[in-house]
Amino acid sequence: MNMKKVLVTGDRPSGKLHLGHYVGSLLNRVKMQADHETYIMIADVQALTDHFATPDLITKNVHEITRDYLSVGINPELSNIYIQSQIPEIAELTIYYMNLVTVSRLERNPTIKTEIAQKNMEDSILVGFLCYPINQAADITILGADIVPTGEDQFPMIEQTNEIVRKFNRIYNTNILKECSCLVGSTGRLPGIDGKKKASKSLGNAISLADDSTTVKEKIWNMFTDPNHLKVNDKGRVEGNVVFTYLDIFHENKDEVSALKDHYQKGGLGDVKLKSLLYEDIESVLTPIREKRQTLTNKQVIDVLQNGTQNARKKAQSVLHSVRNVIGFNY
Ligand code: TRP
Repeated sequence: MNMKKVLVTGDRPSGKLHLGHYVGSLLNRVKMQADHETYIMIADVQALTDHFATPDLITKNVHEITRDYLSVGINPELSNIYIQSQIPEIAELTIYYMNLVTVSRLERNPTIKTEIAQKNMEDSILVGFLCYPINQAADITILGADIVPTGEDQFPMIEQTNEIVRKFNRIYNTNILKECSCLVGSTGRLPGIDGKKKASKSLGNAISLADDSTTVKEKIWNMFTDPNHLKVNDKGRVEGNVVFTYLDIFHENKDEVSALKDHYQKGGLGDVKLKSLLYEDIESVLTPIREKRQTLTNKQVIDVLQNGTQNARKKAQSVLHSVRNVIGFNY
């Protein structure tokens, strides 16, 4: 019997993966796949909750995201990469969970609240969107997840998942569902290049893993620094300066970063110098990823998705079978 802990995670394919995903969760997934039973979901159904009218934005990215995964070192021998919409059992489980969650609890979910505000949806909240945390609870529990490696913004989803698990087990007097824990990358949240709180494809402020060198350079050159640092000799601010935030994460030599910070604060250190350094650091992350991407064929990508989806579905079917039994739907 396989006693490895189960790791379940995923991303919406409504945009390409970027450096925020890389430091927030991809590195953890790559590291952990060797000694965990790993499932990585491409959450196309969830992406539809805010892109239902433009599904091609989602579908055309499914293969791209798979390429991103494989290029950063997700190994299809160790990790199952699968597509949410191809596992209808998740939708069925979502329906059962809907009886266990109140509308007001969903409205209080901090991630949902932020997204509603961001999209100015306050007066027209769609049921599908409001319920996506329930769908995500089904994603996670239908594979018996122990650990969910993901970005910091997903904490509220895990909390809500565990509430559903406890309620289900209590009401149906069972222990078939497991609580899980969230695992966030050690570097925390990566800000956008514009200084906004979070790098995100939809805000157009992220460096994608698939960006070419010219695009990366352009983005770094446009990065938000200190708007009052106009001349090299001006004293500069380090707090809120995105170039330093990125150097803290991507520059290996931490002593050098703190020396640069001192210099910048005293005056005499130009932005271009810092940006050139950061460009080298980010290129050294992205170059091997680009090289790996070059080697992937379409057939490989399709095979990986087919295999991963088949494995995930088998497991989902068995968990759903237990759920139906517990409810009594076994006529
Ligand atoms: N909500 C996640 C995101 O926006 C994607 C996701 C869907 C997910 N289902 C999941 C993450 C299950 C972890 C586990 O990125």
